[in-house]
Amino acid sequence: MKLDVRDASFRYPTGVLALDGVSLMIGSGEAVALIGENGAGKTTLAKLLNGLLRPTAGSVLLDERDTRQHTPAQLSRFVGFVFQNPDDQLFARTVREEVAFGPRNQRLADAEVQARVDRALDEVELRAAADRHPYDLTSPERKLVALAAALAMQTPALILDEPTIGQDASGVARLGALVDRLHAEGRTLITITHDLDFCLEHFERVVVLAGGKILADGPGTDVLRRVDLLQQAQVEPPELVQLALGLGWDTMVRTPEGFADAWAEQRGAAERTRQDDHRAGRPAGRPQPED
Ligand SMILES: Nc1ncnc2c1ncn2[C@@H]1O[C@H](COP(=O)(O)OP(=O)(O)OP(=O)(O)O)[C@@H](O)[C@H]1O
Ligand SMILES: [Mg+2]
Repeated sequence: MKLDVRDASFRYPTGVLALDGVSLMIGSGEAVALIGENGAGKTTLAKLLNGLLRPTAGSVLLDERDTRQHTPAQLSRFVGFVFQNPDDQLFARTVREEVAFGPRNQRLADAEVQARVDRALDEVELRAAADRHPYDLTSPERKLVALAAALAMQTPALILDEPTIGQDASGVARLGALVDRLHAEGRTLITITHDLDFCLEHFERVVVLAGGKILADGPGTDVLRRVDLLQQAQVEPPELVQLALGLGWDTMVRTPEGFADAWAEQRGAAERTRQDDHRAGRPAGRPQPED
């Protein structure tokens, strides 16, 4: 699913101009992270992308559908949305009912609804909680219920607003693996996140918002190493980027494994130079005379 934002602005009824002439084209199957300081307009942009809000100027097209010509209910079949705060989203009395709501609304056969619910609950590892009340779960678990509800809709595009907040390290790793799998399946994925380590590792493209405008848009490995730009957007570079910059590397790695490989390669190269110097009878680590 292609998402095309054309010179869109959004002004809340209070008068706040939350988005100011934003143009953004997200191709089918892309994984894009929206980053930026609090109040930058990230959530407003996400709500424009799934038709919960319509632009007050400009337009938003989902494939060729103009969001102004469709209801949010119609568009919810195409773009799933997991809210920042799950309590804005959950309303059913059991986890199973919550996750079944969307597929049932799509008028799928009962067996298909149940199969989707089981699969979605497996994906977030909450099958054992299927018959519990969502409010008996912890807040991070409720967020996973909201995620499962979105997964069960099997929409071609999915927006996750701050998915890692409140999750422990294993929860974040599980979310990362899920994002990678959905991406490999060809879904269009958009996340809003303050967790730039997560963003670098799992989202190839990064869009930086500030004051309702796009400040930068490009590969995460480029955008997330622009320290001045990130400072302007009030976000800290990811830890891997800080390490790589501190070591003077000019290529960026996206994962701890990538970092370890690059590090091993550098050490190997240094060792080979040392051995060559040794064979040539040059003293190790000393500059050679000019002649
Ligand atoms: N329902 C609303 N009514 C009025 N103003 C709003 C509303 N929601 C957001 N705003 C304002 O619009 C601007 C953009 O808010 P938005 O929630 O899109 O930012 P954000 O980048 O998602 O921030 P955060 O990181 O805090 O979630 C802010 O100035 C905010 O105060
Ligand atoms: Mg927000």
